[in-house]
Amino acid sequence: MSQGVPGTPPNLSLQNALQTASATRQSFGYCPAQGEVPLRSALVEEMKEIYGRDADLAAEDIALTVGCNMAFVASIMSIADAGDEVILPRPCRETHAPPKTGAIYPPSLIASFASLAAENNIALILDETYRDFLIPRTPPHLLFTSPTWRSNLIHLYSFSKSYRIPGHRLGCIVASPTLITQIIKILDTLQICPPRIPQIALAQSGLLQELRADIHGTAEQVAKRHQLFREHLSKRWEIASQGGYYAFVRHPFTGVGSAEVCERLAKEMGVVVLPGAFFGGADSNDDRWVRFSVANVDDEKVKRVCERLVESEQGFGWELS
Ligand SMILES: Cc1ncc(COP(=O)(O)O)c(C=O)c1O
Repeated sequence: MSQGVPGTPPNLSLQNALQTASATRQSFGYCPAQGEVPLRSALVEEMKEIYGRDADLAAEDIALTVGCNMAFVASIMSIADAGDEVILPRPCRETHAPPKTGAIYPPSLIASFASLAAENNIALILDETYRDFLIPRTPPHLLFTSPTWRSNLIHLYSFSKSYRIPGHRLGCIVASPTLITQIIKILDTLQICPPRIPQIALAQSGLLQELRADIHGTAEQVAKRHQLFREHLSKRWEIASQGGYYAFVRHPFTGVGSAEVCERLAKEMGVVVLPGAFFGGADSNDDRWVRFSVANVDDEKVKRVCERLVESEQGFGWELS
């Protein structure tokens, strides 16, 4: 339960579309550095469904990338010089600015961050890779409806999770066309162009629309697995947040760091999870957090992991809080 990867292959319609796309002549060559217009246009429509019909978005605001990690790297490289400061919410992974802890930021909090950033003339980068996993399905925020969002907002998204195609490496950046022009100079040197097969496949007429039901179904399944985890987890382990693929949980062993706990869980219990110390928490006085991912395990495994955590409480011989 360590890695945030989808546990099932993509929807059959997408698998077929990928197969067809891979046999087209155009898939063999480069495409424009910003990505192909048909997918960028289809994405605008999709984003309007998610962020509201009055979201002010256009294909020119979007650049497609080799996954969302590339989107993040290219965005940071385009706005920060050596020595500049980047503010990250903690706990976080350095590769993605947002929490990968399952914490869900409500629209009001995101709006406050946006105002604070705007007042101080700094860019706000939002990685919204898990936006489709929000239940109930309400807009993650309303920033795109503001006529001024382009002044400082950079939105990132990954196709890896919702569409379950991490190996096809597709992500995107949504920002002002002025900034996108600069970002493309970086993307051109790092990736030349985004991968064509998933672009051609996903741009098939009506496919994004068709896949919405599949995405919602997966989100419901992941939410049910979170619930199962909650119900079966020993009361000594305290859940701080659950959302997207993840749960951030406080372990019950007093005076033991998260890395040591995770090492023993892996070696002695066969449970692989990430120590909170990997999320920038190592220097804190409260290194008791463990990150679980519920996406790539089935319900039975979730229950077995919970049983093994109970076994560890006695088996490790550590003092319990
Ligand atoms: C928040 C977040 N952003 C980006 C990524 C990476 O996405 P991609 O596979 O598109 O590079 C991940 C993957 O775990 C993630 O959790």
